[in-house]
Amino acid sequence: MAVQLDYLAPTGWQPPESDEKYLIVLFKLQLAPGVGENMFPQAAASVAAESSTGTWTKVESRPDSGMARAEDYKAIVFDLNLQDHMFKVAYRVDLFEPGNMSGFLAGPVGNIAGMKMIQGLRIFDIRFPRPFVESFPGPQFGIDGLRKLLGHHDKKPIMGTVPKPKVGRTAEEQAVLARRIWLAGDGSYDFIKDDENLTSLPFNKFEDRCRAVHAVQQEIEARTGQKKLYLCNITHSDIEVMKQRAELIAQEGGRVMMIDVVTTGFASLHSMRLNNPGLFIHAHRAMHGFITRESGPGLRGQGSLWGFSVSMLALAKIYRLLGVDSLHIGSPKSKMQDYGESELIDAAMNPDEVNGYDPYSQFHITKEEVNTAAALGQNETPAQPQLNTLGQKWYNIKPVWSVASGGLHPGVLDIVVQKLGLDIFIQLGGGVLGHPGGAEKGVEAAIEARQAIMAGMSIKDYVAKNPSSALAEAVKLWGTEPKIVY
Ligand code: 3PG
Ligand code: MG
Repeated sequence: MAVQLDYLAPTGWQPPESDEKYLIVLFKLQLAPGVGENMFPQAAASVAAESSTGTWTKVESRPDSGMARAEDYKAIVFDLNLQDHMFKVAYRVDLFEPGNMSGFLAGPVGNIAGMKMIQGLRIFDIRFPRPFVESFPGPQFGIDGLRKLLGHHDKKPIMGTVPKPKVGRTAEEQAVLARRIWLAGDGSYDFIKDDENLTSLPFNKFEDRCRAVHAVQQEIEARTGQKKLYLCNITHSDIEVMKQRAELIAQEGGRVMMIDVVTTGFASLHSMRLNNPGLFIHAHRAMHGFITRESGPGLRGQGSLWGFSVSMLALAKIYRLLGVDSLHIGSPKSKMQDYGESELIDAAMNPDEVNGYDPYSQFHITKEEVNTAAALGQNETPAQPQLNTLGQKWYNIKPVWSVASGGLHPGVLDIVVQKLGLDIFIQLGGGVLGHPGGAEKGVEAAIEARQAIMAGMSIKDYVAKNPSSALAEAVKLWGTEPKIVY
């Protein structure tokens, strides 16, 4: 192993004018068995070297070898934590091409995962500087754009359902379900979403479904005067097909295209954002667990890591820059690993939200600090060193809707709103279609839960006061605690 120690900053060094000049990546590494503790600084230096200008050995140095420039452009390791093996790497912003996310990722998320002296590496967070942030489009609509589109005057969660079974209904059957869902309860339910593995199947072709569900949407809107959303899944590995599908949604009077942003890739999201026929981009994140999941105790910063991963927080920031309008972030205490991750991501997607609750109480910053930032409209995610996050100034990039989804049911929605705020999508698939009284009752229960929350009432109190309500029936089945899906 070539000695790369000249990639280490002197103790106490911090990148000057960081938000103008440097991209900062927060790493943690796990040395391979048999590699001595004293090798940690060298391993960290090798991460910086291999991800910026270096390689595994010393190479020739001549006036025309580029070595002098490489020396100027090398990444620098700082804030080395010898105990927890956390460290930051500062990359000069001009080491990367502006507006090219895939090119950037090839550095810090590139060859370094092959280093033999480490058995685990996790990117906890990335802080992007202004010139890099401003080279991306960000969401076209974001929070305010969608509220305007829907004619909302007040903040309230936007609620919807994914048909279950995931796959099984024909296009026509799905349109029938859409009508039932939009007419149920007081008729205020907002959206229906395709499930991720429903693309274009022999019994449910994309074109048929797109036409049938949007026709129902228009019929309902004409009848009720309320605007509805169909989150129509255009996911495909051929970007030309995605473009055609987006065009069809626009032609049919639709408002939203759903894209599985991990499986389709960064380039396709960026291209769809730039070649967008005026649609809101709803981002589902199937496959993210294969990238983001780390099950070792080191997930919280201290202790050992079990593998190689990039946090969902870092991915979410990338997707916000590339232009999603809404993004699945899981939900407090449900399907995926829970360490307050969805709250952290939510704070990065929509940092300025101030709601009646205190979603930050578990964090090590005060509500006042958050509210001050919000009141100033800084569009800035605060750094939370104890939770290993770097924070982010978002400049011109609009805030994004967090989508709470996965194992949710009406009995838990007060907790979800308490933790994530009112600017969220809430998706209940099983939590609506599994209601003992059927889908209509499921929608009714979900709407009652939203009414209780908006009236400042807990779900438990609402049920105590309304024992024969649809919500009471849902709570009888699922309780008021989050479902951890095993
Ligand atoms: C989704 O696509 O969001 C999921 O299918 C959620 O389904 P669930 O609400 O039944 O967990
Ligand atoms: Mg799904």
